Amino acid sequence: ERQVKEALILVNEFAQKWYEDQLYNTDEGKSIGLSYFKSRGFRRDVMEKFGLGFAPTGRNGLLTAATAAGYKEEQLEQLGLVRNKKDFFWDRVMFTIHNLQGKPIAFAGRILKKDVKAPKYVNSPESEVYHKSDVLYGLYQARQSVRKQDNVYMVEGYTDVISLHQHGVHNVVATSGTSLTPGQAKLVKRQTENVTLLYDGDKAGIKAALRGVDVLLVEGLNVRVVILPDGEDPDSYMQKVGVTAFEEYLTSKRRDFLFFKADLLLEEAGDDVAARSAAIRSSIATLALVEDPLKRAGYLQQFTGRLGLEESLLVNLVNQAVAERR
Ligand code: CTP
Ligand code: MN
Ligand code: MN
Ligand code: MN
Ligand code: MN
Repeated sequence: ERQVKEALILVNEFAQKWYEDQLYNTDEGKSIGLSYFKSRGFRRDVMEKFGLGFAPTGRNGLLTAATAAGYKEEQLEQLGLVRNKKDFFWDRVMFTIHNLQGKPIAFAGRILKKDVKAPKYVNSPESEVYHKSDVLYGLYQARQSVRKQDNVYMVEGYTDVISLHQHGVHNVVATSGTSLTPGQAKLVKRQTENVTLLYDGDKAGIKAALRGVDVLLVEGLNVRVVILPDGEDPDSYMQKVGVTAFEEYLTSKRRDFLFFKADLLLEEAGDDVAARSAAIRSSIATLALVEDPLKRAGYLQQFTGRLGLEESLLVNLVNQAVAERR
């Protein structure tokens, strides 16, 4: 079992080096892949740190090189690098996904052409060494900083992690576009108790943040949320305003989960009494996920002040929700 995994990781290491070699040392890689990354402003040292690469248009370059180097086609298939005797990743720029030891366990390939209907990213399938729901992209590179800052920023995308990293914000990891899982929350909790969700400033990002809040609270984490301006993601916003304004934005817009959720739902509800009650109930259900009674009371106190409702009423509702939770 363990030897099987180690052998598969060796295959991935070969693949990563091959994709990197394609990027830096071939004409196709340099003119297409490298110039793409440069157009996004990525620096060479950061590209190397994250194991960026290039998968050329040919459909069997990796398969040929890897089998010539003695790796088995069956292993390449198991890792999803090869499918039906053809390279799975081709004509894409490549992102390496590392485990906590910095070993490559999976890859993602981003499409280069804008007009094509194919999915923007394709990702390695689940394998013996890659369980997507237990991985946070960039955690290996972020870990030291996460511990030092005692906070982690959670973003949606690969390029968000890389871009922030390049600008000196190192404590950042990505959920990679899927909804946050309990496994990912547990993973983060081993590094810090403080999570700041920093998702894309669109409807999908806000919805994902709402769901993510509950998952993180259940694991006992302290959760804050920053919503970016509409249409921006962390990478685009950082490139747009620069690091100083970006960090200012983070500090000034950061809110505790409860006020993020309640403000959002109450704004949607407008003056409608029934909708406002539902918004408050839903916020209270989220507050009830906080295990620590002291923290719960602290949030509730601030909340009561904001809402201008009778404290005893809200206390009762929270206690009820705590009794009913999960
Ligand atoms: N994603 C994916 N498959 C897709 C689309 C998205 O796996 N077809 C994941 C990727 O991890 C991606 C993240 O969801 O990084 C966020 O998606 P999106 O915001 O669309 O992409 P960006 O990360 O912003 O990528 P880019 O800046 O290169 O467009
Ligand atoms: Mn690496
Ligand atoms: Mn998005
Ligand atoms: Mn982006
Ligand atoms: Mn994005």
